[in-house]
Amino acid sequence: MRCAAVLTAAGSGTRLGHALPKALVPLAGTPLVVRAAHGLAASGVVDGVVVTCPGDHLDQVRGLFPGGRVPGTEVPVEVVTGGPTRQASVAAGLAALDDVAPGAGLVLVHDAARCLAGPGLVRRVVAALEDGSRAVVPGVPVADTVKRVLALPDGGEVVVETPDRAALRAVQTPQGFTRDLLERAHRAAADRAGDERTAVSDDAGLVELLGEQVHVVPGEDAALKITTPADLDRAERLLDRS
Ligand code: CTP
Ligand code: MG
Repeated sequence: MRCAAVLTAAGSGTRLGHALPKALVPLAGTPLVVRAAHGLAASGVVDGVVVTCPGDHLDQVRGLFPGGRVPGTEVPVEVVTGGPTRQASVAAGLAALDDVAPGAGLVLVHDAARCLAGPGLVRRVVAALEDGSRAVVPGVPVADTVKRVLALPDGGEVVVETPDRAALRAVQTPQGFTRDLLERAHRAAADRAGDERTAVSDDAGLVELLGEQVHVVPGEDAALKITTPADLDRAERLLDRS
C-alpha cells in the first residue's frame, strides 16, 4: 500500500531559543527538517512527504527541497503552512497528502525535531502497518521513575501515584496509521476542540480516544527529540559517532 508522510516543522522552537524556527536550525550544517525528510525518504517505503512550516518561512523551506524532492532522492515534497498547534499542523498536512502520494492508504506522522530517526525505524513502523496494525508507535523503556502529580491551589504539587516503570514507554515518531483511522481521529479531535480534558500531545493519543488499539514497535536512541540546546549537542555527538 502506498505510504505518505506528514513531517511537522511548523513550531517556533521556543525552548531551543535559536533565531530560526527549530526545524530550520542546522545540525552539522544541514537543517533538521532536511535531515528528517531524508530519514523518511531513505527508508524506501515512503512515497511522498508533506512538510508543514511556519507561514512566514514557506519560501525558505521550499528552497530546501529543490524541484519539490527530498534532496538526493526522487521522493516528492509539498510544503504547506502549519497551524498554531502541532495537532493543527498535522491536520494541515493530512489535507495535502494527495499532492505527494495520491491514494496513499498509510500515513506516517513525523517530527522534524526527531531528525536523526533512521530508515530502519521508518521501515519497522511501516512493516507493522503492512502486517495489519492500524496504529503504530515506536517506544523505548523509561529510565526515570515517573510519578503522576496533582497541582495544589497554593501552587505546589503532590504525588498521586507511581506507575510501574516496566510498563511505561517513551514514545517517538514516526507514528504510523491507516489513513482512514488517522483522518477520523483528527476529525473527532476538531469536534472536541477546546475541551481541556482531552488535550493530547501525539497522534496516537487521538486514535486511543477512539478506542482503537495502538501497537508499539521498538524505538531507537537516535530518534531523540531535539527540544533544548543540550539535545542539539547530544544529536551532534550521535552524528560524530556514526
Ligand atoms: N510543530 C508544528 N506546528 C506547531 C507546533 C509544533 O508543526 N504549531 C512541530 C515542531 O516543528 C516539531 C514537532 O511539532 O517538529 C514537535 O514540537 P516541539 O518539539 O514542541 O517543537 P516546537 O513547538 O517548535 O518547540 P517549542 O515547544 O520549544 O516552541
Ligand atoms: Mg512545541
